[in-house]
Amino acid sequence: MIAIKAENLTRRFGKFTAVDQISLEVERGEVFGFLGANGAGKTTAIRMFCGLIKPSAGDAWVGGISIRKSPRSIKKRIGYMSQKFSLYEELRVSENLDFFAGAYNLSVSEAEKRKDEIVRQFQLEDFTDRTTKSLPLGWKQRLALGCAMLHRPEILFLDEPTGGVDPVTRRNFWEMIHNLAAEGTTVFVTTHYMDEAEYCHRISIMNHGEIAAMGQPAELKKQYDKETIQEVFVHLIKSDLC
Ligand SMILES: Nc1ncnc2c1ncn2[C@@H]1O[C@H](COP(=O)(O)OP(=O)(O)OP(=O)(O)O)[C@@H](O)[C@H]1O
Ligand SMILES: [Mg+2]
Repeated sequence: MIAIKAENLTRRFGKFTAVDQISLEVERGEVFGFLGANGAGKTTAIRMFCGLIKPSAGDAWVGGISIRKSPRSIKKRIGYMSQKFSLYEELRVSENLDFFAGAYNLSVSEAEKRKDEIVRQFQLEDFTDRTTKSLPLGWKQRLALGCAMLHRPEILFLDEPTGGVDPVTRRNFWEMIHNLAAEGTTVFVTTHYMDEAEYCHRISIMNHGEIAAMGQPAELKKQYDKETIQEVFVHLIKSDLC
């Protein structure tokens, strides 16, 4: 089953094309790594998938819903962890969970149930009364993922969820991502950490708004005759600069 499909998806800002006719398909339960240099167009593409900005051309379907025709209906089906920190720093952890439960229109009883489940699943028990700003970054990111999961979305868009997070916490985060995928959640994730790219089922590498390569990490290493995804990435971005 296809969870995310893009067909010639394009976004221009004035004369500048940030996302240039990208096409891709992501299967249900897949962990798809959306890689690319700074400014390649990843966040712009994700914001289109989430129905937050309109495509200039092309279309995409998220959970079968067209982002062009019904951008508002997508919200119920997805969780979105934005690149910029999206939690309210002054609120306590439990208050952030309450806020997002309200934003997703959960009933009072469902909100209580899901809050308890998320606190347990993300091991936030010792932090619920702490203000969000007092948490270490890795725990803030866990909370942000928890908030994005409150309404049990079938598709998760994670935009650099581990940026600035230490290696052990990053590994824990990726364990959680794989557990979610094993339960059938589709995870579309951006990262600049090439070790994380190796944990994805498939990846794409984006450059100047276009997808330069796409496939399983092992396939891409073979195709470009490189030992690591880092080398494939550098090769693709460098060959563009030459
Ligand atoms: N609202 C906007 N108006 C004009 N230009 C924009 C706007 N949003 C993004 N851009 C431009 O589009 C390009 C792609 O930006 P985007 O944020 O999608 O890149 P990215 O791949 O997410 O980069 P990073 O890895 O740094 O997060 C950049 O050149 C950016 O300056
Ligand atoms: Mg970005």
